[in-house]
Amino acid sequence: MSSSYADALAAVATDVDATIAALLDGPSGQTNEVANLWGAMRYASLAGGKRLRPFLVLSAADICDGDRQAALRVAAAVEMMHTYSLVHDDLPTMDDDDLRRGQPTLHKKYDEATAILAGDALLTLAFEVLADPMTHADPAIRAELVLGLARAGGPDGMAGGQMLDLQAERQPVEDDDEIMRLEAMKTGALFAWSCEAGAVAAGADDAARRHLREFGADFGLAFQITDDILDEIGDAAETGKAVGKDTARGKATFVSRHGLDGARTIAERHIQMAVENLDFFGEKADLLRAAAERLIDRRV
Ligand code: IPE
Ligand code: IPE
Ligand code: MG
Ligand code: MG
Ligand code: MG
Repeated sequence: MSSSYADALAAVATDVDATIAALLDGPSGQTNEVANLWGAMRYASLAGGKRLRPFLVLSAADICDGDRQAALRVAAAVEMMHTYSLVHDDLPTMDDDDLRRGQPTLHKKYDEATAILAGDALLTLAFEVLADPMTHADPAIRAELVLGLARAGGPDGMAGGQMLDLQAERQPVEDDDEIMRLEAMKTGALFAWSCEAGAVAAGADDAARRHLREFGADFGLAFQITDDILDEIGDAAETGKAVGKDTARGKATFVSRHGLDGARTIAERHIQMAVENLDFFGEKADLLRAAAERLIDRRV
């Protein structure tokens, strides 16, 4: 099972890389400045990355018998939103990181203004891709895809969660619920949407959508908790980003509140809760099940 999960993830990475590369080819006849912006977008987007959110979009679409080509464009849009969030997250005014996906962060390679604009452009292009009739023939489905991504990335989702994350550096959080809310917003929302979007693109019914959304939300929480664990015990050569930064910046995480073992127990609980949602799909969900079960021991 685990090797078929690794193979499936590698196949998604290959396909989504090709889709993103084609979308970031950029129109011809640009001025040097605009060509430079497209170059910066490609630099951030085509540097590896696990492509876990695209894997979730495609796997969810697959278990709902959806079309892979449509799901690939949805997956590319979600990954563009994610990549924009990383570019901005790394800026000096946010987490101030120099290394991302094993290479200098975008503002280090180019400059801060280009990193802000490349993030803006990736975010905007994600919506253009979803709204394009090439993604789905049905305008109602396209509208739903746009709405869902907007909610996942906006003030009640990722952007709001990033705000809480920065706020918590200055004002220590009082309880676990606050950390849970922060992590659910900054990371869980986009994972939940990645799973639900695959079902939406496939035209799945409400029950399938709900189970996939709830799977994704708990998967995303477990993913962020294991990211926080890797910040403490991970290896920069494997993760492609600096380690030890959360403690240095005074980030509010379950690791800072409960230590590594406590955080691990909380992550395991959310993996368990995530997987329970997959009973609805039976064996068809084996790949998603494997993806969740592998989270706890991930090194990258
Ligand atoms: C990093 O996400 C940001 C978090 C939400 C923890 P990933 O670990 O998925 O980053 P890439 O896409 O593989 O680089
Ligand atoms: C980032 O969380 C979550 C985002 C929405 C970008 P982190 O700040 O922990 O992500 P890394 O560790 O820099 O990848
Ligand atoms: Mg951050
Ligand atoms: Mg960061
Ligand atoms: Mg982190």
